[in-house]
Amino acid sequence: PSDTGRVLSIQSHTVQGYVGNKSAVFPLQLLGFDVDPINSVQFSNHTGTGYPTFRGQVLDGKQLWDLIEGLEENQLLHYTHLLTGYIGSVSFLDTVLQVVDKLRSVNPDLVYVCDPVLGDEGKLYVPQELISVYQQKVVPVASMLTPNQFEVELLTGLRITSEQDGLTACNTLHSAGPRKVVITSALIGGKLLLIGSHKKTQEQPPEQFKIEIPKIPAYFAGTGDLTTALLLGWSNKYPDSLETAAELAVSSLQALLKRTVEDYKRAGFDPSTSSLEIRLIQSQDDIRNPVVTCKAVKF
Ligand code: ATP
Ligand code: PLP
Ligand code: MG
Ligand code: NA
Ligand code: MG
Repeated sequence: PSDTGRVLSIQSHTVQGYVGNKSAVFPLQLLGFDVDPINSVQFSNHTGTGYPTFRGQVLDGKQLWDLIEGLEENQLLHYTHLLTGYIGSVSFLDTVLQVVDKLRSVNPDLVYVCDPVLGDEGKLYVPQELISVYQQKVVPVASMLTPNQFEVELLTGLRITSEQDGLTACNTLHSAGPRKVVITSALIGGKLLLIGSHKKTQEQPPEQFKIEIPKIPAYFAGTGDLTTALLLGWSNKYPDSLETAAELAVSSLQALLKRTVEDYKRAGFDPSTSSLEIRLIQSQDDIRNPVVTCKAVKF
C-alpha cells in the first residue's frame, strides 16, 4: 500500500465559497493525493442557509457517464478511491452505482467513501425516493460511510437518542456492507459527538469509539464534506486505526473553525447570526499537520 492515491471525487462545485468539491479537493491534495473532480452541479454559491438565491447548472446521469467513457477510452479509469457527496436525483445516483462497478472492474481494491447526504437536523434535502436507493444499492457497495445522525436514522430506521443507539445503528450498517462507519455528528445528551465503528473482521465485533467535539455557536457550510474528505485521507495513511484518522480529521476541523470564527469577528461580523464560509485556504497548515486536540474514547 502506498501513502498516496488517486481519488475520483463526484461532488458539487460552487463558484464562491467552500462546499462539495471546493471543500474536498484542496485538502486531499494537501494530504498528497491526486484528485480528479467531477462537478455534479455548478452553482454560484451554496444552497443552504445564508444566501437568498443561487443559480447554475446540474449534471445529469448521462453527462456523468459521458465523462466516464471519455476517461475509459484513454485508459484513465485507474483510481484508488471514489468519493461521493450530495446527489440530487435517482438517475444520477444510479449512474454513480455504474461508476462504482466500472472502477472496481479496473481496480478490484477500489475504496468507495460515501457520504450519504440526505438531510440534517430533521430536514430532508433530497427527494424521498433516494433513501431506498441508498439503503438497497449504495450502502452495500460502500467501503466507508459517513452519515450524520439524521441520515443514520433514515438509513436504519432506528432513532438515535443515546450513544448505545448510535453503536447499534453502526452494527446494522456494517451488516449491510461497509467495514467503516463514521457518524460525523450527533447531538446526544446535549453533547456534539462523532461516533466511529470499524468492523475489521467478519467474526469479531467492531472497534467502536466516540470523540466529543466542543460545539461552536455558529452554522457552517462545507464542514460535512470536509470531514469526509479528511477521513478518506487519514484512513489511507492509518488503514487499521479509524480512531487515529478521526482524531486527526476532527482536530483539523476544530482548528479551522476556530480560525473561521475569529476572522469573522475581527471583520466585525457576529458569527452566531449567519452561516459562515470556512477559512479553508488559510488553514492549510492545520490540514497538513494537525495537532490532535480531540481524543477518541473507546467503547
Ligand atoms: P453531512 O454533511 O454528511 O450531512 P454532518 O451533518 O455531520 O454531515 P456537519 O454538521 O457539518 O456535517 O459536521 C461535520 C463536522 O464539522 C463535525 O464532526 C464537527 O467536527 C464540525 N462542526 C460542524 N459544525 C460545528 C459546530 N457548530 N461546532 C463545532 N464543530 C462543528
Ligand atoms: N453542496 C451544496 C451545493 C451545498 O449547498 C451544501 C450546503 O449548503 C453542501 C453541498 C453540503 O455542505 P455540508 O458539508 O455543510 O454538508
Ligand atoms: Mg450537520
Ligand atoms: Na456526514
Ligand atoms: Mg451536510
